[in-house]
Amino acid sequence: MHAVAEYEKVKNIIPPIEWPVFAPLIERINTLKAEKNAVILGHNYMTPEIFHCVADITGDSLALARSAARTTADVIVMAGVHFMAETAKLLNPSKTVLIPDTGAGCTLAESITAADVRALKARYPGVPVVTYVNTSAEVKAESDICCTSGNAAEIVESLRVPRVIMVPDEYLALNTARRVRTEIIPWRGRCVVHERFTAEDVRALRATTPGLTVLAHPECSPDVIAESDYAGSTAGMSEFVARERPPKVVLLTECSMSDNVAAEYPDLEFVRPCNLCPFMKKIELSNILAALEHGCHEVVIDPAIAARARVSVERMLAGWRP
Ligand code: 13P
Ligand code: SF4
Repeated sequence: MHAVAEYEKVKNIIPPIEWPVFAPLIERINTLKAEKNAVILGHNYMTPEIFHCVADITGDSLALARSAARTTADVIVMAGVHFMAETAKLLNPSKTVLIPDTGAGCTLAESITAADVRALKARYPGVPVVTYVNTSAEVKAESDICCTSGNAAEIVESLRVPRVIMVPDEYLALNTARRVRTEIIPWRGRCVVHERFTAEDVRALRATTPGLTVLAHPECSPDVIAESDYAGSTAGMSEFVARERPPKVVLLTECSMSDNVAAEYPDLEFVRPCNLCPFMKKIELSNILAALEHGCHEVVIDPAIAARARVSVERMLAGWRP
């Protein structure tokens, strides 16, 4: 598609003066994608010129994992963070998976090691470990099953056990515990973006914007979730906006998410006290282009680790029970 047609998708959000910087990169990326039989998976936190103009498939972590498992492309470029690229590689090991910047990490993934999970299992013998996909392959390899913010409660309940260990996001664990009857043993990981929102922020927003609908990601604290109208994954928030069309809405999550949704709904008012994810923002058109041109940076996982980690991710997608 020509760059002029691409601009139609983002004209509500990207000023015309900025477009000449993006247009040539977008054209080159889309040409190279076809030449190399590559697919770009774009997380909802990508900036609008990536999300709307070069990503072939967009969504939350769960949707990207499902798409990675299904794709017939030879090359997968992950416009997201490293754990998402690793998950794609686990699910489709014969494909070349590229992450445009190796610094695209995640504070949750950094918060726990495989040794930490082994220590938890030793402390709570026989208690299944439910691991958020925002983790390294090594941590997934020590786990029984993975979950995302979009399916955490369903995964916990599907196990039909009285207690689970849930790592690493403490807030996701506490928020999930409120939705299930299972006892949840949390870890102490936090997301640098979502832990910064407070219940006081929500009250202040409602005071300054009457009629505001507040949507929050489950990585926010339980206090924030209690003050919100809806909690769900990034895809859940997009679907809420599409379905309910709230005239004034705030998305308590990463900044680009509101931009991407706002591009599609110019008639809605988006209030934006957002927080940036410094890791997601490492992905730019320039390094996506470099990934396609030079094949950098390829995700490689130790085969022994990958074999065990894959089981946890595939169980999540298959609806496994112990
Ligand atoms: P989602 O799975 O909801 O897209 O969340 C991923 C993430 O990293 C949120 O901070
Ligand atoms: Fe990790 Fe938070 Fe960034 Fe998501 S927003 S990638 S959880 S640091």
